[in-house]
Amino acid sequence: MVVENHVPLQALNTFGIAARAHRLARIRSEEDVRALMRHPDWRPQEVFILGGGSNIVITGDLRQLVLKVEIPGRRLLREDERGWLVEAGAGERWHAFVDWTLTQGWPGLENLALIPGTVGAAPVQNIGAYGVELQDRFHSLDAIDLETGELLTLQHEHCAFGYRDSVFKHGRAGARAMGLKGRALITRVRFWLPRRWRPQLGYQDLERKVAETGITAPSPRQVFDWVCEIRRAKLPDPAVIGNAGSFFKNPSVTAEQCADIIGRDPKVVHYPMPDGTVKLAAGWLIDACGWKGKTVGHAGVYEKQALVLVNRGDAEHPCTGGEVMTLARLIQTSVYERFGIRLEPEPVVV
Ligand code: EPU
Repeated sequence: MVVENHVPLQALNTFGIAARAHRLARIRSEEDVRALMRHPDWRPQEVFILGGGSNIVITGDLRQLVLKVEIPGRRLLREDERGWLVEAGAGERWHAFVDWTLTQGWPGLENLALIPGTVGAAPVQNIGAYGVELQDRFHSLDAIDLETGELLTLQHEHCAFGYRDSVFKHGRAGARAMGLKGRALITRVRFWLPRRWRPQLGYQDLERKVAETGITAPSPRQVFDWVCEIRRAKLPDPAVIGNAGSFFKNPSVTAEQCADIIGRDPKVVHYPMPDGTVKLAAGWLIDACGWKGKTVGHAGVYEKQALVLVNRGDAEHPCTGGEVMTLARLIQTSVYERFGIRLEPEPVVV
């Protein structure tokens, strides 16, 4: 394994932001990590772990040693009368992995079709779409502790999954003192896919597909195709327009706060949660503030989904991470002024 110097990152982040990594190593196996760790210059605190680059905003050249995770492999570990235990290397493309599981006849991941990025990055933000989250199918994962070199196996309960959140998004300071951010490099992820399968069609866009087609008992592959169609219609393809998916999390408010907002804006899209809080559609809030389709510098708000910020630059003048963050702050300010809600960015800003 070689450590490359001054590596252009534009093709390694889906926003297409131009920046460089001072040093970058492509990790193809656990042994590659250990080889780096044996080097006298190894500083675990000065490492940045990069997967598919689909959930990051790069605001300048990266001085850390970038570990680009490219560990391959996918296999069936166990099959019994209850279901299938499937494992994938952290460097596998998420969507290709989902597609492969369905081809093998193992359903369960179809609602998560077409999400950009890698298998190893999926647990970090607990990816979710159309009523299913990664944590609903997650079994366990392997990771290397970058401080000790130890191979860790983490079960569901060790990962502290939440809405677009996990133990891998938090450092060791603060409330989640056990955070593994920057410390655990995920190498392999395992999924439990039960034989007893029912289509998850509760999300409005999928209900609409059922109504339009009259197919009330779709196959897993049918649900996969629907999810791909819905995403293609709403979300920009990062290969064509640079973006990092949803830029803000959907905020939670109390029932009282929500009632107050409904009093002023009866159309606000809101979802009551089991714990009594209410989740609001951040895309709707941003849209209501008039941001859809707007451009500031070379960063813009996607015209079909206000929750997605996009790169409006070109090859000569690509959008910078600074421009994205400027636009993000302007949006946060107007949503706060109108609704009293602070939107929290979803991607990792580095
Ligand atoms: N809406 C608007 N205007 C907009 C955007 C949305 O009025 O510009 C309204 C929609 O009409 C809808 C509601 O807001 O009533 C919710 O919109 P949508 O169904 O598109 O979902 P979302 O809440 O905006 C979330 C996830 C997506 C995921 C979809 C489907 C977050 C931050 N985003 O988006 O995840 O694909 O639900 O489950 O939770 C991602 O994380 O990158 C991502 C794309």
